Amino acid sequence: MFGCKSLTNLVIKPEIGLEVRSPRPQINLTRELPKPNAYAIAMDDEYKEIAFNEERAPLNKGVWREKVFNVSSERALDVEVGTGAGHHFAYHAKKYPERCLVGLEIKYKPLIQTIRRAQNGGGVYNAVCRYHAFNLDQLFGDNEVNNVYIHCPDPWVTPRKPRNRVVNRHILGDIYKMQRPGSFLEFKTDSREYFLWALEEIKLTPYQVEFQTLHLYGEETIYKKNNFQTGFEKIFVNQGIEINYIKLIK
Ligand SMILES: C[S@@+](CC[C@H](N)C(=O)[O-])C[C@H]1O[C@@H](n2cnc3c(N)ncnc32)[C@H](O)[C@@H]1O
Repeated sequence: MFGCKSLTNLVIKPEIGLEVRSPRPQINLTRELPKPNAYAIAMDDEYKEIAFNEERAPLNKGVWREKVFNVSSERALDVEVGTGAGHHFAYHAKKYPERCLVGLEIKYKPLIQTIRRAQNGGGVYNAVCRYHAFNLDQLFGDNEVNNVYIHCPDPWVTPRKPRNRVVNRHILGDIYKMQRPGSFLEFKTDSREYFLWALEEIKLTPYQVEFQTLHLYGEETIYKKNNFQTGFEKIFVNQGIEINYIKLIK
């Protein structure tokens, strides 16, 4: 179901060449930083039990509940991709204190802001990883994850590099495999161009669409009512930009 606008005047072509998966992106190793900043140091020191660098994070694959959170295999474990400063992460941690939550961030400062914010809010079962979202499958095994949140990811419209967009058929395929049946994936973005492109990618996956809209705030729905406005989303909404939203179900 679509919320407000018709798509008839907007044609988005799937990107030629995306059938073939790009090589895995590599990120630099924290231990090789010539001058680690305070956030990189905090990740491997003060927060090392709950903030995992690119080398320690994959060691948790398949054992997040048992090894990191010390909870049973039935406990819910959600993932947020690109947490930014962690406003939604901390909100989720507080609202669902019994659910485990793992955040992915590539930059040190937002990574530490995220885990700090959650802890300050009383969150217990929370962890963050410095990791590239395209390599998510190196962090979680099949059937290990419940719900997944992707909020306002970098849209790659300037420069226009759709290949770098995280909501693409390959990453969605990976996430689908790691999710437990009945779980959801929530994606929202200020970028209409990205969203329309992503809809074509989503069609190539086994996900079911529960709800989608080009204007989350344009009508009174439970999705609007239950929505938490993220840091970036707030900025865009204040500029009058419509928020594109989709909820997918495995
Ligand atoms: C536009 S911000 C959105 C932050 C937050 N979700 C929000 O809505 O306020 C995108 C975030 O994703 C992070 N990011 C970008 N590319 C990433 C990648 N490949 N893997 C993990 N995080 C990434 C950025 O560092 C940034 O914090």
